[in-house]
Amino acid sequence: MTENINGKVVVITGASSGLGAETARHLSTLGAKLVLGARRLDRLQALASELGLDAKAIFQTDVTDRNQVKALVDRAVELHGRIDVILNNAGLMPGSMLDKLKVDEWDRMIDVNIKGVLYGIAAALPYMQAQKSGQIINVSSVAGHKVGPGGAVYAGTKWAVRAISEGLRQEVKPWNIRTTIVSPGAVATELIRTITDQDVATGMAKTYEKAIPASSFARVVAFAMSQPDDVDINEVLFRPTSQAY
Ligand SMILES: NC(=O)c1ccc[n+]([C@@H]2O[C@H](COP(=O)([O-])OP(=O)(O)OC[C@H]3O[C@@H](n4cnc5c(N)ncnc54)[C@H](OP(=O)(O)O)[C@@H]3O)[C@@H](O)[C@H]2O)c1
Repeated sequence: MTENINGKVVVITGASSGLGAETARHLSTLGAKLVLGARRLDRLQALASELGLDAKAIFQTDVTDRNQVKALVDRAVELHGRIDVILNNAGLMPGSMLDKLKVDEWDRMIDVNIKGVLYGIAAALPYMQAQKSGQIINVSSVAGHKVGPGGAVYAGTKWAVRAISEGLRQEVKPWNIRTTIVSPGAVATELIRTITDQDVATGMAKTYEKAIPASSFARVVAFAMSQPDDVDINEVLFRPTSQAY
């Protein structure tokens, strides 16, 4: 399960908390060379110090800015000469009923959850094509498979991540590039703090009482990365055992 990870150069977006930070911790123990991006530099600095990373291995990155995402990936290549994996993980989930017209939040989800992933692909793909190897891991959700009231736009963004990832999977065959979608159910992170609608927040807080630790996600990423190069784990959908929907 841990083979094929040691020495790999891995870029993670949204590495300052939750799934991204926990995956950085796990991959660090398995010998990956990490380059971590997010907006909150203080959180990245604390993580770098915890993991013993060089200051150059963290890079303040807003994934809604294409140039910043490119600079993050370029940093990995400057430091290590290649990029083996990008985990396009940054995201937010401010759910609300559509008639609340929280249009700014719709825009934000589209910008971060969809365009942020596309910018990650745009930054990493040319390097991976030149290397004729690499793995692009995009984070969708159970909400990329199922939609419910209050989750229309978030689910739309996560459906989009799956569609983009599947198109990418088919297109990158000539360059030996692997593509993986990870679709979690309720995992304990800071994600539900992005909800501003009180009704949705209350319902979601109840759902997240059953959330499982972020280490569950980190192990899935490690599983997908650790396969032999000719094995492409295209999607892992996982939930808390107690989660019904
Ligand atoms: N937790 C779950 O139950 C669950 C389930 C399904 C899918 N997911 C997905 O998992 C991913 C990670 O979320 P999480 O659960 O770990 O939540 P989290 O603890 O809130 O972490 C979200 C991360 O995204 C980053 N981020 C947000 N906006 C950003 C931006 N504009 N530019 C760069 N980074 C940005 C945040 O960093 P900064 O604020 O420092 O920028 C943070 O590191 C998301 O895509 C989420 O949709 C989570």
